[in-house]
Amino acid sequence: MSQFHTPVLLPESIEALNLKPQGIYVDATFGGGGHTAEMLKKGNGIKIFGFDQDTQALSEGSILQKKYPEQLILIHDNFKNLRTRLALERIRYIDGILFDLGVSSHQINEAERGFSFSQEGRLDMRMNEEQEFSASDVVNDFSYEEIRNIIFEYGEEREAGRIARAILRERTNSRIKTTLQLADIIEHNTNAKQKVKAKARVFQALRIYVNGEMESLKKALEDSVKMLNPEGRIVVISYHSLEDRLIKKFFKYEEKDCICPVNFPKCICDKKSTLKIITKKPILPSADEIERNSRARSAKLRIAEKKEVV
Ligand SMILES: C[S@@+](CC[C@H](N)C(=O)[O-])C[C@H]1O[C@@H](n2cnc3c(N)ncnc32)[C@H](O)[C@@H]1O
Repeated sequence: MSQFHTPVLLPESIEALNLKPQGIYVDATFGGGGHTAEMLKKGNGIKIFGFDQDTQALSEGSILQKKYPEQLILIHDNFKNLRTRLALERIRYIDGILFDLGVSSHQINEAERGFSFSQEGRLDMRMNEEQEFSASDVVNDFSYEEIRNIIFEYGEEREAGRIARAILRERTNSRIKTTLQLADIIEHNTNAKQKVKAKARVFQALRIYVNGEMESLKKALEDSVKMLNPEGRIVVISYHSLEDRLIKKFFKYEEKDCICPVNFPKCICDKKSTLKIITKKPILPSADEIERNSRARSAKLRIAEKKEVV
């Protein structure tokens, strides 16, 4: 529905949700509302709670809400608060939840939001513009070790130390204010072949850190398991290996019936299997989809289903 965003893996993710008539669903990352619009079209009398921490995303969603006033409820919040927010709506159980992670094309294309390393903007990167802490605070006020660790951990960038040192050197003269200033520092402090990749990795690292993305995802996955009805599904589209690893590990842990060390003769843990993994390998976009929408190129879709826990 949005002119800004082509939903990634759209038919695959809607089919994965196994929509049941009159079911209650969550779109944890409403964005431009593309996935929600399709769910509302395909689902018979379903109700959707659409979360987004970005007010701009939700204001676009008001058009869709007018079309489905009884079926779509938009909530401006981080999905890590989904259980509390749904409790306030008197919802304890849901039939499925979709996560289409990361930033929207809309956010990337708005240069002043600071997500893009190829457009001039403030060093911002907050998905929730009501949050005070931004990328500028990390780049200008954090120590060398802190910056290096963020770039290494969340960007998996091998030249993290060299880039962090260059940032510290640069900021002794004056604050680093813009995306292009930071991109330029990375450009001059990485291997000739790796420049574009290094910029993408450093910007990704800062974005993940500023928005607390990994912590929020972990919390929301845990809450989803608690809230799902039996046979309800968690469907997650991720865009980088850190997210995908977290999701894969989480699904595997939840599928396990026992977590005792292998040398224990008898199970003494109370761990119960809560999820059945539907996708042993992630579903990837077709070559055709990647050609139509370059944002899809790194997407991976994983699905798990809630078990009847006795
Ligand atoms: C890839 S876009 C979703 C696009 C959407 N599926 C569509 O079809 O238009 C991701 C959206 O999730 C939001 N988002 C990311 N992390 C979030 C979080 N922890 N809580 C709430 N919203 C989040 C972003 O603000 C962004 O609008």
